[in-house]
Amino acid sequence: MRSDGFPDDFVWGCSTSSYQVEGAVDEDGRGVSIWDTFSHTKGKIRDGSNGDVACDSYHRFEDDTELLERLGVNAYRFSIAWPRIQPNGKGRANQKGIDHYSRLVDGLLEKGIEPWPTLYHWDLPQTLQDAGGWPERDTAYRFADYADIMFRALESRVHHWVSVNEPWCSAFLGYRDGEHAPGLHDARLAHRAVHHLLLAHGLSNEIFRQTGMEGEFGIVINPVCRRPAQDTEAHRQAARRASLEQTNLWLDPVFGRGYPQEYVQACGAEMPVLDGDLELIAKPVDFVGVNYYEENCVEPCPQGPDNPLGYRIVPTTLPKTAMGWDVVPEGLRRLLVWISNEWKPKALYVTENGAAFVDIPSRSAGEEGENSEATRGIGSQSAARQVRIHDTERIAYLRGHIDACREAIAQGVPLKGYFVWSLLDNFEWSWGYSMKFGLTAVDADTQARLPKDSFEFYRAVIDAAQDARI
Ligand code: FCB
Repeated sequence: MRSDGFPDDFVWGCSTSSYQVEGAVDEDGRGVSIWDTFSHTKGKIRDGSNGDVACDSYHRFEDDTELLERLGVNAYRFSIAWPRIQPNGKGRANQKGIDHYSRLVDGLLEKGIEPWPTLYHWDLPQTLQDAGGWPERDTAYRFADYADIMFRALESRVHHWVSVNEPWCSAFLGYRDGEHAPGLHDARLAHRAVHHLLLAHGLSNEIFRQTGMEGEFGIVINPVCRRPAQDTEAHRQAARRASLEQTNLWLDPVFGRGYPQEYVQACGAEMPVLDGDLELIAKPVDFVGVNYYEENCVEPCPQGPDNPLGYRIVPTTLPKTAMGWDVVPEGLRRLLVWISNEWKPKALYVTENGAAFVDIPSRSAGEEGENSEATRGIGSQSAARQVRIHDTERIAYLRGHIDACREAIAQGVPLKGYFVWSLLDNFEWSWGYSMKFGLTAVDADTQARLPKDSFEFYRAVIDAAQDARI
């Protein structure tokens, strides 16, 4: 092991997703997605915004690729908008949609950056939702067809594929809590969605293996490993139960254990499992992607219909991000160690980690030298040239979490890479543009990209890692 604790082939990357950055929602034959419908429904997005334009990355992907090159990452995790490929979620592929991702992939490869596409980051074609969406089994089959189209289109050029991103959010925030598209409030539908999202993952994994393509295929989840507020057995049990829905519910079936019975019974979850489904879902994956932002502290409370798992989140006095999320870098190490010991995945990647803070631009023309690379924006430029964003809190957040990755590796976790969320400030779902997670600010009027200090920090981390290569 090298002195800095990271292996030579460690993947340093950055993530975005289609609906959050692309814009161009009605161009080149793109169909409507559930996020178009949801964001245009009054009252759903806190700042009343939508992803119609977002960061305009559909048109400015070359600017984005240039930024990535400047950052020095060796991987870019983006997602493919299913409605660009099959506007109605089924049938013949829309060549213009494929061409877009093909150009993006070529542009990345030219710069030595590995493309890491995610097939599903929440933008389901609206027509499939009209037919029932993820609670319907047919959606999983439609997804498998779409995945097949993409495998064939990008086969020789893409070597890392993610099936679905954070299916917990799609199922529970989308169908039970009403916070995400399609905005429903029905736990029964959410449980059906859980199974069909996992089935979609399993079916696409099987197709991936059948193509004989070289490369890795995995799933990305947002697991939690909740911390007991006190060191008592009752608290430890509450913390364990509190982690079931976001962690065991996904990893148990993916690693061949079926659905966790304790969860199923406590929540009265009826998964529409047919013969052979669990085998498909349990087809070996090459990696598990972990999205980590925060860790919560919990205490027990009586189990009942309103609280079937019997726990409550306890507020802490820890520092918080603008989302109100506790900053707990140590929690990332704990989570990675737990997953690695409990499910023994071949490889783990932190596929998202980052933080929203209130960024205050400072006008410091000349401070760092007008033409230094740090002050040169991309996109249009004079305004960007005079402004800097000294996002010291984000830097501290990233530093702490990168250290936690290093410690996890030292403890034997097969952690192979780390991706910052996000390359750009973007459309943060029901928060609209009010929450900024980017290493790069985006001027809403001009679309100029302005790297923040955290961009330079991450670049220095990657540079140092390269220098430490043996
Ligand atoms: C994750 C999502 C990602 C982004 C971050 C902040 O849950 O996968 O799209 O919104 O949170």
